[in-house]
Amino acid sequence: MKCDLLVVSAAQLITAPEGTGPLLGPDLDRPLLLEDAALASIDGKIVASGKTAEVRKRYPDSEARRVLDARGLLVAPGFVDCHTHLPFAGTREMEFDARARGESYAAIAERGGGIRASVGHLRTVSEPALAESVRKRLQHLLAQGTTTVEAKSGYGLSLEEERKQLQALRTASESSPVEVVPTFLGAHEVPDEHRARREDYVTLLTESMIPAIAKERLARYCDVFCDRGVFTVEESRRILLRAREAGLGIKLHADELADVGAASLAAELRATSADHLLHASPEGLRAMSRAGVVAVLLPGTAFTLGLPYARARVMVEMGLPVALATDFNPGSTMCSSMSMTLTLAVTQMRMTPAEAWMAATANAACAVGEGGRLGRLQPGHQADVVFFEATDYRHIPYHYAEEHVRMVVKRGAVAMDRDQRSCSS
Ligand code: NIG
Ligand code: FE
Repeated sequence: MKCDLLVVSAAQLITAPEGTGPLLGPDLDRPLLLEDAALASIDGKIVASGKTAEVRKRYPDSEARRVLDARGLLVAPGFVDCHTHLPFAGTREMEFDARARGESYAAIAERGGGIRASVGHLRTVSEPALAESVRKRLQHLLAQGTTTVEAKSGYGLSLEEERKQLQALRTASESSPVEVVPTFLGAHEVPDEHRARREDYVTLLTESMIPAIAKERLARYCDVFCDRGVFTVEESRRILLRAREAGLGIKLHADELADVGAASLAAELRATSADHLLHASPEGLRAMSRAGVVAVLLPGTAFTLGLPYARARVMVEMGLPVALATDFNPGSTMCSSMSMTLTLAVTQMRMTPAEAWMAATANAACAVGEGGRLGRLQPGHQADVVFFEATDYRHIPYHYAEEHVRMVVKRGAVAMDRDQRSCSS
């Protein structure tokens, strides 16, 4: 049979087994590992994956439009970075310095730094300039093996400025092979102009910003920073119910700084995901597990801020669907590397390399509602494939702070090839 792309002779291929849902409990540690592996795709979708000899029987080289020889390489699903704050402007190395001198993230935020500092930066850049910086970041993500990225607004904090962020994201994504899942995070912080009467800002969110963003289809999800000193559980519930009514999916920044009951709220609302969870209570986590809410863990944040890590082992053993993401943002995590995230998950949260891989691919796809389409190298899934210069999946988290990506395929087409130093498609 004919196919568009045939990948043959990979030293190793790693993927979740066939399916569409997240891997839970012991299954998270049971990826499918194939040696001398191949895959074929038609119209950007995988039609076969398995041993090279078997795949070739159905899809011979002579009938493939393009054949990629993956000898000596590790083949894996493209990373799904399911939590980032990608469209930001400016950087905050002064805060990095202040934290090194003992000031906490919360104290910096209280004195007007933190998210509010980035709001100040964002409001001074033009939409085209922002789009250009996002385009460059997307290119960099691709080179690191990320083929899908969730990206949040949340540094505008007014309808006009949030719209600017989401428009810039859309413009940038139109010229990049990386797929973008946009999220409205107007409830990231209360902006300076509303701090005297915060309830006015919540009303602005529910009555004006959420309906407009949803109507203009600028976002697929709505997120709220539900934590101490930010939005309360009651405010978050109000905002998220309005978002659901407007047709948006629901996500939460939950219990990052303190246990405020955000994990329980995520369960109550049957959110797609609840993220961070550094201080989430066991009851909150159990409720999430019953409701099937994906727990998105962001070890880069705990690493940067010197906070205790999320209890990944407890969560996996509780049967929670656990996913991994970078949280790339200019404040708490200036790192967009999913490979580094795998390293931190293994060394700091005691996940196994196999669990970390599955959490960053199949389960991360579920955290953006795309488990049936992304995150697996299985028939029916999109052909988003990364080729690493390694012969064993464990090498990637083990040999950290190095770039091992050789080539990236998005929707069945070569999107980045380090040998040719070119990006196409
Ligand atoms: O996920 N926790 C809230 N938001 C970001 C940090 C944003 C910032 O500091 O600019 C986070 O860590
Ligand atoms: Fe975040």
